[in-house]
Order: sequence, then C-alpha cells, then structure tokens
Amino acid sequence: MLIPLFLYILCFLLFPQSLQSQANAFSRQPSGKFIFTHHERSDSDPQQVHISLVGKDHMRVSWITEEKDSESLVEYGIKGGEYSKKAIGENTSYRYFLYKSGKIHHVVIGPLNPSTTYFYRCGGSGPEFSFKTPPLKLPIEFVIVGDLGQTEWTKSTLKHIDSKDYDVFLLPGDLSYADTHQPLWDSFGRLVEPYASQRPWMVTEGNHEIESIPIIQPHAFRSYNARWLMPYNESGSTSNLYYSFEVASTHIIMLGSYTDFDAQSEQYKWLQSDLAKIDRKRTPWVIALVHAPWYNTNEAHEGEGEEMRQAMEELLYEARVDLVFSGHVHAYERFTRIYDNKADPCGPLYVTIGDGGNREGLALKFKKPPSPLSLYREASFGHGRLRIVNETHANWSWHRNNDSEAFVAEDIWIKSLSNTKECWESIGQQISHEEL
Ligand SMILES: *[C@@H]1O[C@H](CO)[C@@H](O)[C@H](O)[C@H]1NC(C)=O
Ligand SMILES: *[C@@H]1O[C@H](CO)[C@@H](O)[C@H](O)[C@H]1NC(C)=O
Ligand SMILES: *[C@@H]1O[C@H](CO)[C@@H](O)[C@H](O)[C@H]1NC(C)=O
Ligand SMILES: *[C@@H]1O[C@H](CO)[C@@H](O)[C@H](O)[C@H]1NC(C)=O
Ligand SMILES: *[C@@H]1O[C@H](CO)[C@@H](O)[C@H](O)[C@H]1NC(C)=O
Ligand SMILES: [Fe+2]
Repeated sequence: MLIPLFLYILCFLLFPQSLQSQANAFSRQPSGKFIFTHHERSDSDPQQVHISLVGKDHMRVSWITEEKDSESLVEYGIKGGEYSKKAIGENTSYRYFLYKSGKIHHVVIGPLNPSTTYFYRCGGSGPEFSFKTPPLKLPIEFVIVGDLGQTEWTKSTLKHIDSKDYDVFLLPGDLSYADTHQPLWDSFGRLVEPYASQRPWMVTEGNHEIESIPIIQPHAFRSYNARWLMPYNESGSTSNLYYSFEVASTHIIMLGSYTDFDAQSEQYKWLQSDLAKIDRKRTPWVIALVHAPWYNTNEAHEGEGEEMRQAMEELLYEARVDLVFSGHVHAYERFTRIYDNKADPCGPLYVTIGDGGNREGLALKFKKPPSPLSLYREASFGHGRLRIVNETHANWSWHRNNDSEAFVAEDIWIKSLSNTKECWESIGQQISHEEL
C-alpha cells in the first residue's frame, strides 16, 4: 500500500506536468489539499457516528469512543431530546501494529417508521443526532459516489450532496484512503459524520480498504470490517465484503472486487442465491455496485475488473440487473446497456463514478478513439443521483463540482428492464406485466 503511494509521490515530484497536462475541454481540477479532521469532543462522547440500513425497517448506528467503558446504547425517539426507546448493541476494537482503535459500537434500532425523522443519542451522553428513514415506496433518491478520500474536493462533493435532499448514500468503495495509517480512518469518520449520521451510508470495499501486508499484517480489511459493518448476515452472506439489501422497490447488490469471485467462490454462490430470491414485482429495480469497473475506457486501471466481469457478468445479465455502478477510476463515465462487450438492450447500464475527490487526483486520459459503448466521459470531481420515480422510470444525473456550485452536467431517463417484455421472453421467463 505504501509503496505505490511512495512511487506516486515520487512520480509527482519528478513529473508534475505529466499528471496535469492532459486537460482538453477546460482546465482540470488539480487534486485537493488533504484535510485532517480532529477529535474535538470528550473521550466518552461518541464520534464518527454513521448509520446503515438493516432489514426492512431497522437501522444500525455505529460510532467510536476513546473511553473503554462507554456503553453500546442508543436512545431514540421522534421528538428532539425525548427518547422513548432504547437499544443495546455490540462493541469491538482492533489493533494494527502500534495503533489501537477506540471502542467501536454497533447498535441496531427499530422497527422504525418509513419517511420519518428520528432523534438519537449514543452511549447515554454527548450530542444529539437525527436521521430520516427512507420511504417505503417510490420515489426514492440515491446519491452515488466512490473514491471519496478526505481532501478539499471531498468536502465540496459532500457539501453539494447535502445541498439537495436524498434518501440513501451508496458508496462503491475507497473510503478514507488511510492506506494503513490508521488515524486517518478516524479522521475520515469525523469528516463524514455530519452526513453519514443523517442518512444511511451503504458501502462496499475498494482496494484502499485492503490494508494487508504480507507476513506482518496478513489480515485484510481489518479496519474496514470493524468500522463499516454492513447488513451481510441479514442478506445470507458470510462476509462483510458482499451483501444485498432492499429499500423502496429496489434490490441493491454490493459486490466485492477484492475477495474471491470465481465460480467456486462463496461470493459467487451467494450472488446466485441472492439473484434467485429477487421478485421483480416487489423490487422492479435491481442495481449492483462494485469497486473495479467491468467496463472502462480510461487508461487508468485498464482491465482490472476484467477477471471479475468474465466470472460474474452472465449472472447479472440473466437476472436482468438494471444498472451497475463502480468506482476506482477517478472520473465519470457512462455506458450504454451492455452484455459481453456488445451493446445489448437487456444488459445493465454501466456507470463509473469514482470521482468523489480523493488525494490521488483525476484520471485524465480516456482512450481514443472513444468506444461506441461509452456515451459520456469526463475527468472531473462530482457525484451522481439516481432518482427512481416509479416502477418503470428513473432519472440519473451527474453533478460536476464547479467551485462552490454543483453543475448538472448530464441527466438522462433510464427505464427498468423489469417491464421490457422482450428481455424476459428471450430467457424463457414469464412475468406478468399487467401486474407491474
Ligand atoms: C463489549 O463486548 C463484549 C463482548 O465482545 C462484552 O462482553 C462487553 O460487555 C461489551 N461491553 C459493553 C460496555 O457493551
Ligand atoms: C444472522 O442471520 C440469521 C438469519 O437471519 C439470524 O438467525 C442470526 O441471529 C443472525 N446473526 C447475527 C449475529 O445477527
Ligand atoms: C413513471 O414516470 C414517468 C416519468 O415521469 C412517466 O412518464 C410514467 O407515466 C410513469 N409511469 C407510471 C406507471 O406512473
Ligand atoms: C433529473 O434530475 C436532475 C437533478 O436532480 C434535474 O436537474 C433534472 O431536471 C432531472 N431531469 C428530469 C427530466 O426530470
Ligand atoms: C462553472 O460555473 C460557471 C459559472 O456558473 C460556468 O460559466 C461554467 O461553465 C461552469 N463550468 C463547468 C465546468 O461546469
Ligand atoms: Fe480504487
């Protein structure tokens, strides 16, 4: 992890122009200044508070305390300062060389009502937080962005995201860019708390979460798994590195690029069984997220998702997955619907949205001539929004960071495959379209 970073810095020092000079349409944003977010509360107070969806009407509240005897307790209710309910959860911690984490708390609360604001407090003291639960039915709005990091650009991306309401945050990998330097995980937790304590953040892992070092630190994802616990058990998965969940008529699959995915793997078998459980009447929309893109025409990370694509693409295609989002490449790219490297009206539409703002900067070079499958490419920081309007229509928009403003650079309508009769006849499956 450190060696690539070192090489990158060295490369940057030796050839500063090489990373900046590819700008074509307009002058590209350079990588932002790193931000360290300090701990400003007392050691017994919760910090790094974030929430995630669990099952159909529960929420997991996660936070960290420096103090070891702080209780894993969440008090909550629908009125500020009045907590009619409480729940007790679990705690964990981990070591990484000399670093010892604070006490990491995870408490599942609920059942909760949909589209409702709840006020809550963690560990019996400290500040009050609030969140809004997602709606039971469509419409629902997802914010999607990967490769966040913690720079000035990350800050502006988060501010743009927050300037317009949404329901659930989906992050296709690469969170803190701590890259083995564990205090940066804490700094990241504090940076995102104002957002991640208010709306569920559903994440999957990227390469920057691995943090294993042969022989001396063989355990991968130690920090990520301890801090960003996702509802994997609830979706029949045995690993925090892949899982699924359902919210407002949408089935969302979080895949793991950095764990086994071949036909013999646990992940593959889990994906098969998860796809088999989907009922398109209950969830007409099916979305998948994965860190390393299966389709990518940027010169950065070329071919890195290819092995996984070859292993799993057919499963997603046969299940008529509507959309696949990935990160890893620090740019925005949108494709048409694809199957096996060919445009296919029954394949998923692919989007790369690894433009959250991390310190590595933008991936400036797209291959020329452009592939006819790639319909929009741009190396700028920004974020995406998927507003699923009803069972058949969704509005996808990409919001470029433009200094203090977010600028809608692209917005399109996407139709769900659940209603496209031809796509189901061709695989001999019947679904009743009248009922949809
Ligand atoms: C923390 O977890 C351990 C088990 O992992 C449990 O024995 C202990 O009671 C928990 N402490 C608190 C304060 O919740
Ligand atoms: C895991 O899921 C199973 C089945 O849903 C449930 O019975 C079990 O209690 C869960 N375990 C934990 C630790 O949540
Ligand atoms: C779904 O939304 C689209 C776009 O607003 C609209 O044209 C369509 O009629 C809607 N369909 C249903 C079934 O409401
Ligand atoms: C889609 O969403 C974007 C961002 O919210 C908005 O600017 C745009 O007008 C929407 N498009 C349509 C056709 O509703
Ligand atoms: C940024 O905003 C300015 C002022 O609104 C506008 O003129 C410019 O085109 C925008 N640039 C981009 C790249 O969106
Ligand atoms: Fe990555």
